Amino acid sequence: MPMTLTFHESQYPDQVAMQCRQGLHARKLPGRLLYDSPAQAQRWLAYHQSYSPSRTEPELLVLYERSFQAAITALTGRPLHYVSLGCGGGNKDALFVRHALDHGGALHVSPTDTSAALVLETMLRLQAAVPAFGASPLVVDLTAEPDLDPWLAQQEADGARRVFGCFGIIPNFDYAALLSYLRRLMRPDDLLLISANLSPGPYGSVAAQRILPQYDNPLARAWFAGLLDNLGFTGADLRLAVQAQPLRDDGHIWRIQADAHVLRDVQLALYEESFDFREGEVLEVFFSNRFTPAALSRVLRDAGFDIRQTWVLDSQEEGIYLCRRS
Ligand SMILES: C[S@@+](CC[C@H](N)C(=O)[O-])C[C@H]1O[C@@H](n2cnc3c(N)ncnc32)[C@H](O)[C@@H]1O
Repeated sequence: MPMTLTFHESQYPDQVAMQCRQGLHARKLPGRLLYDSPAQAQRWLAYHQSYSPSRTEPELLVLYERSFQAAITALTGRPLHYVSLGCGGGNKDALFVRHALDHGGALHVSPTDTSAALVLETMLRLQAAVPAFGASPLVVDLTAEPDLDPWLAQQEADGARRVFGCFGIIPNFDYAALLSYLRRLMRPDDLLLISANLSPGPYGSVAAQRILPQYDNPLARAWFAGLLDNLGFTGADLRLAVQAQPLRDDGHIWRIQADAHVLRDVQLALYEESFDFREGEVLEVFFSNRFTPAALSRVLRDAGFDIRQTWVLDSQEEGIYLCRRS
C-alpha cells in the first residue's frame, strides 16, 4: 500500500541547501547530512546493526522494555500519543508500540526523523509488528527547533498525553540546545523517555580505549566517507581521523569526533557556490558526546527535567531516563 509522509518546512530544499552551505563554510558538517540520503540511511543501518549496544546487548532491550512499561503504566487508560524523535530504523518504536497496545486507551504514533528513508523504514517496521494503529510520520529537522505542538495536536485524540521517545540522539546534538527545545515542546503532563550513550568513567580512564573502536571501524568509516563522497570529495582528497577529546575539565563529558584532514587543494561546486579547501585544513564530519551517568543526570536536572526513573546498563555504557518537566 502507498504511504503518506509529511515533510516539515525545515526539510525543504532551500533549508537543506542553506544548512549545507553554512556547514561547508564553517568546516563543520551538519550531523543530519550523515543520514539524509537513502544510501546514507542504509550505510548507517548497516553500521548500527553491527555496533549499537541495542543490537549487540540483549539485556539493554530488557531495560528499554522496562522503561516503556513504566511510561505506559503512568498513563494507563488515557489516549496516548507516542512521538519518536529521530526514530532511525524504528526497532525501539516497534517495541514501545507492542507494549502500548495493551494499555487500555487509544494509541497514536508519530515517528519523526530527518531522513525520509528512515521514517519509511520505521513505518514498515511498525506495520510488521502491530496489526493496526494510527500514525503520522513526519520528516523534520529537529535542529531547526520547530514548534511541533500544533501539528501534534491535530494528529491526536482529545485529551491525549504524549510520550516523547528520544533515543540515541542527544550524543549527536548540541545537548543543551536539544534539551531546552524538548522542554519547550513538552506540556506539563507529558513524559520524556530519553536515552544516551554513557561513559562508565571519565575521559582518560579505560572508557575512551574501550569505546573508540565502536566509531573507528570499517562500517563507521564507510558511513562517514559516504557523506564526503556525496559532497564531491574523492578518497585521495582526505584522510579520516577518529579520536576522543574531553569537553569538560573533569572529563565527565567527552566526545568522539571524526574529522576529515584535507590532503590536497580541492574545489567543490555545490548549490551554485564553490567551496575551496586547502591542504592541511580540517572538516568536522561527526561527533558523539559521552556522559558519565552522574553527569547526564545533572545535565537533565539543570535543563529543567525531573527524572522519575533511570535504567542503566551494567556496563554503564547506555542509560534510559523517564522524565517530566520540573
Ligand atoms: C543514533 S540514531 C538513533 C535512532 C533511533 N532513535 C535508535 O535509537 O535506534 C540518530 C537518529 O537521529 C536522526 N537525526 C539526526 N539528526 C537529526 C535532525 N537534525 N533532525 C531529526 N532527526 C535527526 C538520524 O537520522 C537518526 O535516525
